[in-house]
Amino acid sequence: MSAPTIDLVGVSKSYEGFGEPVFVLRNLVGSIPGGEYVSIEGPSGCGKTTLLNLLGLLDVPSEGEIRWDGRPVAARTERERARLRLTSVGFIFQRFYLLPTLTAIENVALPMRAAGVARPEREERAHELLREMGIDHRANALPHQLSGGEEQRVAIARAVANEPGLVLADEPTGELDRAATDVVLTLLEAARARAKATLVVVTHNPLVAARAQRHLRLEDGRIVADRTEA
Ligand SMILES: Nc1ncnc2c1ncn2[C@@H]1O[C@H](COP(=O)(O)OP(=O)(O)O)[C@@H](O)[C@H]1O
Ligand SMILES: [Mg+2]
Repeated sequence: MSAPTIDLVGVSKSYEGFGEPVFVLRNLVGSIPGGEYVSIEGPSGCGKTTLLNLLGLLDVPSEGEIRWDGRPVAARTERERARLRLTSVGFIFQRFYLLPTLTAIENVALPMRAAGVARPEREERAHELLREMGIDHRANALPHQLSGGEEQRVAIARAVANEPGLVLADEPTGELDRAATDVVLTLLEAARARAKATLVVVTHNPLVAARAQRHLRLEDGRIVADRTEA
């Protein structure tokens, strides 16, 4: 699917506290046009991961509505949302979440398998992705045999395997050194350009945020700044 335009219409997220709800996101309003490159910054606990989970259809708002291309996501069945997550969303988690008993190439092929891609095609494509990430020579390594930067590159290959229109990365360079950070960002940006995808990167690192076109800042569950590069 091509990159969806995402609208947030008064989106709030709360959890049950002691008797009353504790709000983690408060009345977010805004739009992310398909294909945009957005960074989200803000202090720990301000709601960045919660927002990413909502954008990626891993979670639903407590109040308000998220729309994809004008259509409320909540109007879809859970089955349709699961399908959209599989085919249209690529998630890169902070701690990689590679399956420890699968090799690098098996991890990359997994979402294609779930999407029904035939074995020869998914193996070929998984190799191609690992080549693009510069780690095809590590195809048969298990995650614990890889460096942090290599693991993250496998995680990116896996996230973009089904050519999602929306790529969400939660502090993807948090534990990497400067050189590995540059490699990972360059690969993410190349994947975005190829697929004309939307890329949303949560980061604490101003150098990482600076590479995006648009910069959102969250504080205490609210968007306190929204700046687009001229
Ligand atoms: N499942 C949950 N139940 C209760 N509170 C949660 C849950 N998930 C996150 N929170 C709380 O929501 C707030 C924001 O969390 P998070 O979105 O992970 O922040 P960030 O990613 O910006 O560090 C934190 O106070 C966190 O403790
Ligand atoms: Mg977080």
